Amino acid sequence: METTMTTAVPKLTTLHPRISSNSFSLRFSLTFPAKKTALVKHTCSPSHIPLRVSASSQSQAAAEATKVSSIPSEMKACVYGEYGGVEVLKFDDKVSVPEVKEDQVLIKVVAAALNPVDAKRRQGKFKATDSPLPTVPGYDVAGVVVKVGNQVKELKEGDAVYGNINEKALEGPKQFGSLAEYTAVEEKLLALKPKNLDFIQAAGLPLAIETAYEGLERTGFSAGKSILVLNGAGGVGSLVIQLAKHVFGASRIAATSSTGKLELLKSLGADLAIDYTKENFEDLPEKFDVVYDAIGQCDKAVKVVKEGGSVVALTGAVTPPGFRFVVTSNGNTLKTLNPYLESGKIKPVVDPKGPFTFSQVAEAFSYIETNRATGKIVIHPIP
Ligand SMILES: NC(=O)c1ccc[n+]([C@@H]2O[C@H](COP(=O)([O-])OP(=O)(O)OC[C@H]3O[C@@H](n4cnc5c(N)ncnc54)[C@H](OP(=O)(O)O)[C@@H]3O)[C@@H](O)[C@H]2O)c1
Repeated sequence: METTMTTAVPKLTTLHPRISSNSFSLRFSLTFPAKKTALVKHTCSPSHIPLRVSASSQSQAAAEATKVSSIPSEMKACVYGEYGGVEVLKFDDKVSVPEVKEDQVLIKVVAAALNPVDAKRRQGKFKATDSPLPTVPGYDVAGVVVKVGNQVKELKEGDAVYGNINEKALEGPKQFGSLAEYTAVEEKLLALKPKNLDFIQAAGLPLAIETAYEGLERTGFSAGKSILVLNGAGGVGSLVIQLAKHVFGASRIAATSSTGKLELLKSLGADLAIDYTKENFEDLPEKFDVVYDAIGQCDKAVKVVKEGGSVVALTGAVTPPGFRFVVTSNGNTLKTLNPYLESGKIKPVVDPKGPFTFSQVAEAFSYIETNRATGKIVIHPIP
């Protein structure tokens, strides 16, 4: 059996072969509904779909990035000049390479990842606090430092790094994001890439793992507490489950997803995997110390929290005592979590339909906007 995911995309100008992936460490069975159409076809094997993708071209990509002896003045980037649907996404190969401020480094981007905020921002949902158009989208990056500002203290040229380039997700995110050959980022927002992860795996982590960690911290989560994660298979939820278990010492973890992703939830550490297509989690007799709502069901989430417990919500309307926060990017969070990543306790979950090549950016956006992605959607190679 072969499942396909295809999406009509606007005509774009660059073409690159898809890289092949050849080693995996987190495997589970996943079923996707077959969809019809057209321009690009991704194939998924019927079972044991690899979630952790190790690109054979990784060392080559790093070598190429570090080989950059002279930095060009112009680069290729994904750009939009107006808010709207995926059709506003264009490629421009004459975008100025960003200037590096004193506290910033210039990164040769090897891989970038999409987050729902990239789609919402492009749709104009945050236009009141956005940077001016035209925009090069992209928050998450993994790449190689090719230039450092005067005040940069630790990072140096040739370092392999990763991070979420926007300190505040919604307040003036950078005009020149990570979906480009180069991006300029404050040193404090970055960490060295975990040595055991390739650039594809690393690119998918920053915003999601920072959100997962900050949310758990804000609830006061600690060893021995129980947690229910709503949307355990998404970019954030897949990491909330793992952090709750391996970093915070949860006593019990429950999580929701659709039928095909229940095994994934268990492989990530969930004791109870709830199929939201068959059960209403709010009808279960069990109550939790913390409910982490990564889908926008705060009204129901507050019904299953213990008295005195916490409900953290990432999106949608908030029902007391639930609360919402917006993630702050912080390289120190990544540094704190690097040992858990390097020991293999925390595993990146990369959507098996990817990585998407740079020429498939619009398709990758269409996919994240289905709200069906598993883990992270990564773009590689760039361009
Ligand atoms: N406030 C912040 O700072 C912050 C930070 C990060 C993200 N967010 C927001 O948090 C949300 C989650 O982000 P994300 O990156 O994790 O999203 P994501 O990866 O795009 O989430 C996709 C997942 O949602 C699942 N899903 C869809 N409907 C569901 C339902 N009714 N119950 C349970 N799971 C369901 C899908 O699983 P199935 O296919 O099984 O349905 C899919 O795996 C987004 O709205 C995002 O904008 C906010």
